[in-house]
Amino acid sequence: VPKDINLKEEIDKLRKEKNAIILAHYYQTGDIQDIADFVGDSLALAQWAAKTKADIIVLCGVHFMGETAKILCPDKKVLVPDLNAGCSLADSCPAPAFEEFVKQHPGATVISYVNTTAAVKAVTDVVVTSTNARQIVESFPEDTRIIFGPDRNLGNYINSITGRNMLLWDGACHVHEQFSLEKILELKKQYPDAEIITHPECKQPIIQVSDFVGSTAALLKHTIKSEKKQFIVATESGVIHEMRKQSPLKEFIPAPPNDSTCACNECNFMRLNTMEKLYNCLKFELPEIFVDEEVQKKAIKPIRRMLEISE
Ligand code: 13P
Ligand code: SF4
Repeated sequence: VPKDINLKEEIDKLRKEKNAIILAHYYQTGDIQDIADFVGDSLALAQWAAKTKADIIVLCGVHFMGETAKILCPDKKVLVPDLNAGCSLADSCPAPAFEEFVKQHPGATVISYVNTTAAVKAVTDVVVTSTNARQIVESFPEDTRIIFGPDRNLGNYINSITGRNMLLWDGACHVHEQFSLEKILELKKQYPDAEIITHPECKQPIIQVSDFVGSTAALLKHTIKSEKKQFIVATESGVIHEMRKQSPLKEFIPAPPNDSTCACNECNFMRLNTMEKLYNCLKFELPEIFVDEEVQKKAIKPIRRMLEISE
């Protein structure tokens, strides 16, 4: 990237010239969120990708989000600023092992979290995000045998609020699993009026002490609606950028991780994307996401089914 260019202006110019749309997840850095055409959670990103008329989609998020956009729009060019932006949760569910698990339970309905590879989606009946997981699980009759993967925390949480007994894949997200219950409770003593708000990818003891549990978008909405003035936020801290923008007079305290020597409440994969990489990505139209045609044809079905149910 040339030294003295104004990145914001150049990115804006390139996006217009190329009829590109920049979609960013709430876990991106503030500068990327601010320049994006849309900022959203995983569900919103898929919904925007499905309806955009742009020729190029730049997905500022992690690989599976780019893949989901490509599956929905196979004829468009889908770019991500850094191809190494993976996801520990998606990695915790390798497709061959998941396929084997599915085979061992013939007749079961397979519900997969969007945080999965295209190959896992290809053996899935319906995809969910944390925003619509409850609604989609409850759209099946109570006696349906359901396999739910890959997040064991979200799966356990959905089982507990719906009374279902879904069979769970044993996967997790390294960011959401490392929040410290002790430190959250210490913070609560320091800020007794604060609400603890938590993403369902967190472990059960943290969910149990929380005042509100929801997806990234649900947490954001809650902070706007709530009369409380302080929030201890147990999810990736990037979303606090939008929370502060929406409620400048409220206070947001990121929940601390177990290891206080690292910024572990930031997803290191999400943070691989930078403004410089976004600029290069638009300029050179690289790196691009590709999905095998056979896999794409299978994987689009459960994603479309999710979009239909969550309309
Ligand atoms: P949502 O955007 O659906 O809340 O998912 C959280 C997440 O971890 C995305 O990687
Ligand atoms: Fe994956 Fe967790 Fe990062 Fe989300 S926060 S992208 S689930 S590793």
